[in-house]
Amino acid sequence: MTTATTVSIEDIRFERASGNIGAWVHGVSLNGKRTAHIGETLRRALHEHGVLFFQFDHIVSAEEFAAFGEMFGTLEAGYRISSLEDRPKQAGDGVMDSDRVPMKQYQTNQWHADGTLFELPPQSAMLTPVQLPVVGGDTIWASMYAAWEDLSAHYQHLLEGLEALHSAKRLPWLKSDATAIHPAVIRDSVTGRKMLFVNANYTERFLGMSERESESLLQMLFQHVNTPEFHVRLKWETGRIAVWEERVTQHRGVADFTGSRQMRRLTFVGDRPVA
Ligand SMILES: [Fe+2]
Repeated sequence: MTTATTVSIEDIRFERASGNIGAWVHGVSLNGKRTAHIGETLRRALHEHGVLFFQFDHIVSAEEFAAFGEMFGTLEAGYRISSLEDRPKQAGDGVMDSDRVPMKQYQTNQWHADGTLFELPPQSAMLTPVQLPVVGGDTIWASMYAAWEDLSAHYQHLLEGLEALHSAKRLPWLKSDATAIHPAVIRDSVTGRKMLFVNANYTERFLGMSERESESLLQMLFQHVNTPEFHVRLKWETGRIAVWEERVTQHRGVADFTGSRQMRRLTFVGDRPVA
């Protein structure tokens, strides 16, 4: 039973964007009434689909973006990676500018989840364009549910119970001593599904293995993540918002553009990844 001023959850429609990951969300307005039902429906869908896409009719302002983001969690005070001294302009969740943070230099065009070198990595993040290049600069997401489920029983058996050290060792530009140990396979708190939890930017090594064993297994898994069947790719257009779950997915930019690419970004506080 709904009132005239309440958008029922039946009004929200999800249209899958690929076979394994991502959905376009229809029926949610940028500045409309946001009920607890809408927030709950979107958060659940985020864990199911990994990444949600929205299309609105104008460039999303900082105020509109922050208000919309409130449905997805608690904002981090500042995106911690970005608050480091070597990219001071990124402090806080502001506008990421490709001129200041070139994708190749900052390795954002490599598959990763954000901030897994922390004990409590971000839970989710949100992007919307402010200024786009004429062509290129897409973002791709990969499903860690699909990556896990596609592994053979032999590899699943090997990975279950393994723990990995996450650090800034693979990111020469990042001056951080932060480290965290996370399970290699974790379970989503909403869907109950298992997912792979190692990434090419932050996972340094598996515990309890030689360097050679660990690196060989990690490199296989990093290549495994790069399987098109696990992916969805978004071409950015004015008024688009993408929200992604940081454990269920990995993401990477595509560094194929010239000119400026400016993206507004917000990051949400996360819990401890658990097996
Ligand atoms: Fe990222």
